[in-house]
Amino acid sequence: MYSSTKKRKKKITTHCLRAMKERGERVVMLTAYDATFARLIDRAGVEVILVGDSLGMVFQGHRSTLPVTVEHIIYHTAAVKRGAKRALVVADMPFGSYQVSPDDALRNAARIMKESGAEAVKLEGGARVLEAVRRMTESGIPVMGHVGLTPQSVHQLGGHKIQGREERAGRQIREDALALQEAGCFSLVLEAIPQALAGTITSDLAIPTIGIGAGPDCDGQVLVIYDLLGMDERFEPQFLKKYEDLAGTISGAVQNYAEEVRDGAFPARENGFE
Ligand code: KIV
Repeated sequence: MYSSTKKRKKKITTHCLRAMKERGERVVMLTAYDATFARLIDRAGVEVILVGDSLGMVFQGHRSTLPVTVEHIIYHTAAVKRGAKRALVVADMPFGSYQVSPDDALRNAARIMKESGAEAVKLEGGARVLEAVRRMTESGIPVMGHVGLTPQSVHQLGGHKIQGREERAGRQIREDALALQEAGCFSLVLEAIPQALAGTITSDLAIPTIGIGAGPDCDGQVLVIYDLLGMDERFEPQFLKKYEDLAGTISGAVQNYAEEVRDGAFPARENGFE
């Protein structure tokens, strides 16, 4: 239940997340792409709302996140900001917006923050993005890192697969995590890596880790809101727990409406105006 205590209402900042880790409190993060979901998620007391480039898949219907542009992220983040009052709103930097050069990354991150109202940005990768992360954090932009399965590299990785299973690959992810912290990241998403590796990285780092498909030993967890709500009955990955079956509920409601329109039950006289 949403609590109305002062503590619950306090605006979340990147500093709060660090303090939560120090107190051993778990951070809750969810994605949102519009004002209505953002308002409901915010009201439920979630600390971080991520305007993920997952919107390319769940909102736009693409097979990957690659087609998402800076303009799409600005549009959706501005909508989310109108709905969220307390949560920290983080905007994903889409594919191609930070890989060209650190200057280009800074330019795009600054544009996203100015035009959408985002309070932080997130980008994917380890060693290859360190310079971009440094450039942004030195300019006052809070940056969340993302290692393990990095969906923007899906074609290079050969699919959406678990990462870091072999010792060398695991070591690389651990080194990347430490280097991202060193470069100034305030938090790190760990996606689809073995639970033990996620636990080790979490205890190595002073900044909070947010896991997805990385087990229970992270400092927080993130899910795509459509996945948590069971909006796609075809999507059943092992890491996911569906808290609702909205695919069935929504289809059922729409079928009821369609039947009532066809047989004349809706609208009834009381739904009209004298
Ligand atoms: O784009 C996204 O939604 C994400 C989360 C799943 C971490 O990157």
